[in-house]
Amino acid sequence: MKRLIASALAALCLCSTAYADTIKVGVIGPFSGPFALQGKNFKAGIDAWFALHGNKVGDDEIQVIYRDVPHADPAQSKALSQELVVKEGVQYLAGYYFTPDAMAATSLLEQANVPMVVMNAASSGIVIKSPYVVRTSFTLWQTASPIGKVVFDAGIKQAVSVVSDYAPGIDADSAFSTAFTEAGGEMLETVRMPLDTNDFSPIMQRIRDSGAQAVFAFLPSGPTALGFVKSFNDSGLKADGVKLFATGDLTQEPDLPALGDATLGMQTTFHYAVSHDSPENKAFVEAASKAIGDPKELSFPAVGAFDGMYVISKMIEATGGTQDAKKAVEAVKGLSWESPRGPVSIAPGTRHITQNIYLREVAKSAVGAYYNKEIQTFANQGDPGLAAIK
Ligand code: PHB
Repeated sequence: MKRLIASALAALCLCSTAYADTIKVGVIGPFSGPFALQGKNFKAGIDAWFALHGNKVGDDEIQVIYRDVPHADPAQSKALSQELVVKEGVQYLAGYYFTPDAMAATSLLEQANVPMVVMNAASSGIVIKSPYVVRTSFTLWQTASPIGKVVFDAGIKQAVSVVSDYAPGIDADSAFSTAFTEAGGEMLETVRMPLDTNDFSPIMQRIRDSGAQAVFAFLPSGPTALGFVKSFNDSGLKADGVKLFATGDLTQEPDLPALGDATLGMQTTFHYAVSHDSPENKAFVEAASKAIGDPKELSFPAVGAFDGMYVISKMIEATGGTQDAKKAVEAVKGLSWESPRGPVSIAPGTRHITQNIYLREVAKSAVGAYYNKEIQTFANQGDPGLAAIK
C-alpha cells in the first residue's frame, strides 16, 4: 500500500514522504487452554515494549493482531498464519511458542514477503527452514550444552536424560549428552516421553532402575513440566541421592511456589531469570508486571516477545514501513543491544540470538519468595545446534 501511495505521490510530484501507515504484526501463541500463561507472557512482553518505547516507528503505528493456537498444532498454526497474511494483511509474523507451530508457518514466508520473528520456539532447525526467520528466544542446544559440564563437575559420573519426544526435546537430549560425555560422564539411558504425558510414575521408576546419580530433563514450560518436577519431588528419588538437573523451562518463576521447598537448590541453565540484576531488567520487569497484572506470573516468553518487538521496530525503521522482508531481515543481521537478559546480538549467519546463558539455583528470599538465583555466567553463547544438525 505504502509503495503504491509513494509512487502515486511521486507521479503527481507532491514531494512529501511524511505520511503515516499502520504496520500490522500477527502474533501466534497459546492464549487459551493449559498453556495460556505462556501466551499471556508474550502479550505482557509486547505491551511492556509499547509502554516503554511507544507503538510508533517514525510516523508508522504498529498494530498487533493475536491468534490463539492453544497446543502444539502445526496445521492450525499454518492456517492462522496464512489468514493473518492474506486477510489481515500483516507485514510481520511473530510469537510461536511451540516449535512445530513455527516450523509449519515457515513455508509461507518467502511467497508472502513476510519475516517471522520467533519469540519462543526453540528447536535449532527453525532458522534453516527459511531465510526470513529471526529468533529472539533461545535454543535447547544453547541452554542445555553448558549444564553437561556442570553436572560432571558436580561429581556425577553416570546420568540419564528424560525429554519430551519432539524436536526441542531431542535437541536438549543431544546437547546435554554431548557435553556430559565430552566432560567424561556416561549416559546410561535416554527416555523420550510423549509431549502430553502427565503420568510420570513409570518414568520415575525407569530413572530408579537405571541406577544413575542424576537426571537431566526437558519438557516445554507449562503444566506438564510442572507435573514432572512435582512427580520427581514426590518420588523419593531425591531422598535416595538422585539429583535433578534441567534447562530453566522446568523452573519457570510462576511454577516455583507450587514446587515449594522441595525444589530449593535445583540447578538449571537458561537465558533469562526474572531476578536478573540490571537496570534494563528492572525497567522491563516493572513494565511487564504492570502489563500482566500479577508479577508472580512473569516468565521468559515475555522477554523473547519484548526483544522481538525491538527487532521488528528496527525492521520497520530500515524499510521505512514498506513491505520488504529481505531488506527487513538484512537490517537486523548483526544487530546488538542490551536486553533485560543481558547483552545480545543477532548472529548474521544464523539469524539466531547470541546471548549469555546463566547457571541458576532455585532459592528463597528473605521474605520467602522463590526465585532463580544466577550463580554463573556462560558469556556470549551462539547456537551449537546448527553445527550439530549440518
Ligand atoms: C518449543 O516447542 O520450542 C518450546 C516450547 C516451550 C519451551 C521450550 C521450547 O519451554
